[in-house]
Amino acid sequence: RNFLQILGLTTLVTVVGGIGGFYYVTQKERHPGPQLPFDKEKKTVVVLGSGWGATSLLKHLDTEDYNVVVISPKNYFLFTPLLPSVAVGTLSTRSILQPTRYITRHKTRTVSVIEAEAKSVDPVAKTVTFTDNSEIQGEVSTTTLPYDYLVYAVGAEVQTFGIPGVREHACFMKELADAERMQRQFMDCLESAAFPGQSQQELDRLLHMVVVGGGPTGVELSGELHDFLEDDLKSWYPELAGKVRITLVEALPSVLPMFSKQLIDYTESTFKESKIQILTKTMVKEVKPKSVVLQNPDKSIVEVPCGMVVWAAGNTGRQVTRDLIAQLPTAQTNRRGIAVDDHMRMDGTDGSIFAIGDCTATSYAPTAQVASQQGAYLARIFKQMARKEAFVARKAELSATVNQITGEEEKKTVVAELASVEKQLTKLSKLRPFQYSHQGSLAYIGSDKAIADLPFMNGNVATGGVATFLFWRSAYLSTLFSLRNRVLVANDWLKVKIFGRYVFILV
Ligand code: FAD
Ligand code: NAI
Repeated sequence: RNFLQILGLTTLVTVVGGIGGFYYVTQKERHPGPQLPFDKEKKTVVVLGSGWGATSLLKHLDTEDYNVVVISPKNYFLFTPLLPSVAVGTLSTRSILQPTRYITRHKTRTVSVIEAEAKSVDPVAKTVTFTDNSEIQGEVSTTTLPYDYLVYAVGAEVQTFGIPGVREHACFMKELADAERMQRQFMDCLESAAFPGQSQQELDRLLHMVVVGGGPTGVELSGELHDFLEDDLKSWYPELAGKVRITLVEALPSVLPMFSKQLIDYTESTFKESKIQILTKTMVKEVKPKSVVLQNPDKSIVEVPCGMVVWAAGNTGRQVTRDLIAQLPTAQTNRRGIAVDDHMRMDGTDGSIFAIGDCTATSYAPTAQVASQQGAYLARIFKQMARKEAFVARKAELSATVNQITGEEEKKTVVAELASVEKQLTKLSKLRPFQYSHQGSLAYIGSDKAIADLPFMNGNVATGGVATFLFWRSAYLSTLFSLRNRVLVANDWLKVKIFGRYVFILV
């Protein structure tokens, strides 16, 4: 009996403590305390963007050292790896967003967050001009701000290669609005197919979904579409779901070229089982309102009717980035993006512009992993620069007083401190270059299966299947930037397991 009583009491204390701790943490998150005000003596760091690179920088940056201004057309961070899950309604949109102010309000010093799009950067005058593009605007909607340091992290935009009809008729899978648009269009195709009197030919067209690009985005989205069909639509549209076809079109000889051969084969065989057709060595030449024009491996051209085209064919630099690059024609010659040195400083500038993430042209793949590591690295660099400046100021102070001191002992102390300051300065003058640490590649391929290429010892472990899927879920759950997002995502997964996905169109 005693044992049971102790066990009961321990359980009670643990549960109450757990709930209390959870409540305390969440309330502390919700009600941040006062912050230090802007300090005129400090340098100003302007951060462009609120994506992976910028958010990682903001998380790690010590704002005691700087005044920080964030400018981004989106006032939130979007957790892109789970965007395909939003497109099919597995996750709700809000679950993978983190308002930027949730991060900046917890910093030591006030950080200014401005919802606006940077239109131009002047690297000589050291200014950024930005515009409020939102529907509601105040009297001022365009202005220019000076910076001491600029962190350029605006990412990239969808690459269309100038292929006719892509912008007009295809859905993208890059922003939140893209996922919402795709969900609407997909459901609309089904509802139109359910409209009485459609011919067989029209049914085939409406129920044919074409995904362009066999990179991870295209593969993950195809897998998610398949899950939606199998898990939910089969029940609610029994007469149609079996007729839905998914075709993945890839110009290269295989999908997922960044994964090992074994995992490519595994993905291809999983897709075969899932009845997702893969067309490799096939290039989309045009997107029309009701079809895609394909160039087959034998160079023949065929027009394929379809209800929806999702364009996931890679990225290219934004106009604002191209304009910035064009201002430094001698140093910036890489057409892929901004050339930077080992410390992420933009080539051809005086070291006041840092560029990170997808907008740069480096040897690394344009991934969230790279961008977030670069953001965290830059925070360390900024810390080092701030410490160096403090020592430079102290050195000037000591140098100015040392000759005025008459007392031997006092002079000795100042000279010793001067020597120590010099030592620190020498140490701080050496900036460690950015070094990327690859944590592995993961991708969801549908049917509760994922693939993973993970570095192990000096080699690589390639794994795929249901266990990898559980690993994929736990990896992304822990990578989400906040407790709130983790709870919301876990809750969505549970909700979908119990009640399924929604099958309606929100206009
Ligand atoms: P972004 O995260 O794109 O951020 C750019 C920011 O700049 C945004 O906040 C944007 O609003 C803002 N911005 C745009 N224009 C301007 C402007 N003119 N002025 C100011 N701000 C501007 N990578 C992985 O490693 N693993 C994955 O599983 C993975 N999955 C992905 C799934 C999808 C569907 C997609 C689309 C990408 C995925 N990626 C993944 C790639 C990853 O999202 C990018 O590499 C990463 O977002 C790059 O970070 P970034 O900070 O450079 O750019
Ligand atoms: P991507 O550039 O990796 O793949 C695009 C694919 O589209 C290419 O294979 C290309 O050959 C193909 N393509 C281009 N034009 C075409 C055309 N006209 N017709 C047919 N095929 C065409 O782009 P993606 O998948 O959007 O990924 C972008 C970046 O984000 C990559 O670095 C990727 O690694 C990363 N990412 C990583 C994920 C993960 O790790 N799970 C998930 C999604 C993206």
